[in-house]
Order: sequence, then C-alpha cells, then structure tokens
Amino acid sequence: MNLLFLGDIVGRTGRDAVIEALPGLRRDLKLDLVVANAENAAHGFGLTPEIARALFDAGCDALTLGNHSFDRKEIVPYLESEPRLIRPLNYQANTPGRGATLVALPGGRRALVLNAMCRLFMEPLDDPFAAVRAELSRHRLGHTVHAILIDLHGEASSEKQAFGHAFDGQVSLVVGTHTHVPTADARVLPGGTAYMTDAGMCGDYDSVIGMEKGTATQRFLKKVPGERLAPAEGTATVCGLFVVLDPATGLARRAEALRLGANLAPAMPLV
Ligand SMILES: [Fe+2]
Ligand SMILES: [Fe+2]
Repeated sequence: MNLLFLGDIVGRTGRDAVIEALPGLRRDLKLDLVVANAENAAHGFGLTPEIARALFDAGCDALTLGNHSFDRKEIVPYLESEPRLIRPLNYQANTPGRGATLVALPGGRRALVLNAMCRLFMEPLDDPFAAVRAELSRHRLGHTVHAILIDLHGEASSEKQAFGHAFDGQVSLVVGTHTHVPTADARVLPGGTAYMTDAGMCGDYDSVIGMEKGTATQRFLKKVPGERLAPAEGTATVCGLFVVLDPATGLARRAEALRLGANLAPAMPLV
C-alpha cells in the first residue's frame, strides 16, 4: 500500500503545483492514499471550501489543517459537512469540525487519518498525546483499519520526535507539518512507524516560509508594522513524504522524502 503526504500548501503557486503534479504522482507512485495539509492554501492563511474542493478533485483523499484552521470563517460550515477535511483534534471541546476521518481504500480497506497539534511555542491546546491515545483506543492497525496516518502540526522538532516514538508501532505514519521546511530525517522507526519531523511546504521556497521575502524580512529588521504578509508567487516546490506499507500489518516498509519543483534539490522515490 503506497501513501503520499504533502506538507502545508501555501497560496496559489502551491495549490497550482499540487493540482498539476498529483495525477502523475498518483499514477507513477501507484498511490492508494494522498493526504495534504491545506492550512495555508487560501492566500497563505486558512482554507476556503472552493479551494478544498479543487484539492479533492485533483486527487487528495483527505486534507488536514493546523493553527490557521479558522483563519477563513467560511470554512466553519464546510468543516461540519465535509468529513474528508479535518482540523487538529486537541482543540477544546465544542470546536467546529473533527480531528479524525476514515478514508475508504481500494479493496474494501480503510485508513484512519488524524490531525494533532503540538504545544511547544504554539497556542494553548489540550494534550495531543492524550487526544491521539483516546482516538487510537477505538481503532487497531491491521485489524479495524489498514493504515493510520497522523499529521502532527508543530514548531518544535523535540516534541515531534517524542510523539513519533510514543506511537511507534501503533500507527503507519507520523509526519510533521507547520515549519514549512523539509527535514532530512525521513525513516522507519524501530517499531515500524514511518516518521519525518517536517514534510516541508508546497510553495515558493524563494521566500520566508512561503511569504514574500521582502516584507517578511522587514519584520525582523524593525519594530514597526509593515505591509501585510502575502504569499511568494514564484514557482513552487511540492514537498512531502512517500511511504510504502505492509498490507498485512499496516506498518511501514519504506519512508522517503519527495521534492518536486524549483529551488530545492529534487527527490523522487522509485517505484
Ligand atoms: Fe503552515
Ligand atoms: Fe501552521
């Protein structure tokens, strides 16, 4: 079973690159499941229903979010009605939407997709470890579901690595998002969980984490409100993590970074 997770899609250039690349990637990598983080897809901040539909139409089976989940308020009713779109599950109770979704796979199999958010250097949230543990108490990998994918949205590499070890052997994949920079640590952990601290963004890397570099740099040079941040609009690089699962156990056999586009060294798994 082959999975692809794509990191934070930033703005129009990120969306266009993903939409253009996905049909070919689905075919060439023989993908059974594609999940992408879309928290920055709408001009860098949040997601709209129209953009979500375009990403589903292009071949995303599920979309995840993060600290920008609710930047666009028109997403709230859509979150309630579209099960393929999830937001972090460790928001306080009564937050709209859900943090978990089941995706039907070929051959009658099912994948559980979870979205959790870290706490170090992030907004106050419920414990992501406890929230994921509670969700996993309802499902068993290789029995009730055939893949379990967790998008862990967070700033600190330490918290993400600890999370990977905490759930090693219980889930197919823990992949980080939010920093918008791909890490070089894609691997299979000792218990069989695929892991990467950050998948990197799908966006223009000639930028400051996807934002136009002039305006974004000025913010660090002087303490005066400047122009509003806007996404950089050069050619995007599609970044993510490709994982091959053992169909019997749902655990990972391979975990390799994928990078496709401008500015970063390319990486394309061979299938
Ligand atoms: Fe992001
Ligand atoms: Fe984020």
